[in-house]
Amino acid sequence: MTNIDLLLLPGDGIGPEVMAETKRVIEFFEKQGAAKFTVEEDLVGGAAYDAHKKAISEDAMRKARDADAILLGAVGGPKWANVPYDARPEAGLLRLRKDLQLFANLRPAICYPALADDSSLKRELVEGLDIVIVRELTGGVYFGEPKTITDLGNGHKRAIDTQVYDTYEIERIARVAFDLARKRRNKVTSSEKNNVMKSGVLWKEVVTQVHEREFKDVKLEHNLADSLGMQLVRAPKQFDVIVTDNLFGDILSDVAAMLTGSLGMLPSASLGEVDAKTKKRRALYEPVHGSAPDIAGKGLANPIAMIGSFGMMLRYSFGMTKEADMIEQAIAAALAKGLRTADIKGKAEKTVGTREMTDAILSELEKLAA
Ligand code: IPM
Ligand code: MG
Repeated sequence: MTNIDLLLLPGDGIGPEVMAETKRVIEFFEKQGAAKFTVEEDLVGGAAYDAHKKAISEDAMRKARDADAILLGAVGGPKWANVPYDARPEAGLLRLRKDLQLFANLRPAICYPALADDSSLKRELVEGLDIVIVRELTGGVYFGEPKTITDLGNGHKRAIDTQVYDTYEIERIARVAFDLARKRRNKVTSSEKNNVMKSGVLWKEVVTQVHEREFKDVKLEHNLADSLGMQLVRAPKQFDVIVTDNLFGDILSDVAAMLTGSLGMLPSASLGEVDAKTKKRRALYEPVHGSAPDIAGKGLANPIAMIGSFGMMLRYSFGMTKEADMIEQAIAAALAKGLRTADIKGKAEKTVGTREMTDAILSELEKLAA
């Protein structure tokens, strides 16, 4: 049986709760004989700060480098609002992304039929929605230097963030998007703000060149990021794969996620380059949702995005397509039965907690495996 070394980083808020339930799904597949999972666990975010005064320890970083894949819950919360900027919970996540060079963030937005009435948009606009946002994750304004606040001495300060992209960064993320589109409906929409930003001018130029050179069979469209935001809530089904930078991708993926009914539904994958020798790629999987401190510790959180993230791991890191499909089917079946956590309550009479939702998904998995 293949051995898979996993690092689990539950993090903060609802992270540990949804991770605990996902572990049961991991155990299910191990019992099925799908693979042997060797699981290590460590701290990230506020939890790591409380233990080490750092958002992630060197030991956890070493484990992250050694693991075949990483599963992360969520980071952050009001408890750490006043910690030093470099030790804020988000810094742990950003360091993992940057140090492991996880430049390609895949954020699928799929609307499960059972939830089409729970979207803030009308059913006909979202029913059958299946799009992927490919967000550049290690460059742009989140990492560019200078990044400073300077005292101007006259009672004013100046804050600077730097949006910076090199050709190679745009090329590699464009390739991920075109490759993915070929396995889907063969269409890529690239998004930037070339009307006001130099980085947008270069982004559009490089994406166009990569398309001309390597992916002429894929349909390519360009859409300014503001207009794309508008189109996403007007007619989201026109899109297939959307490729965009770190900042716009952060915003647009939250918008896309909400079309599906709740942020609690959406998994994501953050991938590095494929190693030419080993054919392996570094990868971290995490829900798109945050740590939801308001409901943390109450057993109310929706575990679907976290379980779905494990499913994406099986698909993208280990080629376990059958098992990944099973997870998606089990989630759809649990929803079709009418089970709802509070975030996807809609008109449901009764809601279930994290554990009951996972129980239902596990029992659907049992049926699928039988
Ligand atoms: C996300 C989150 C992170 C981001 C935060 C927690 C740093 O919003 O993954 O979308 O901005 O990238
Ligand atoms: Mg975000």
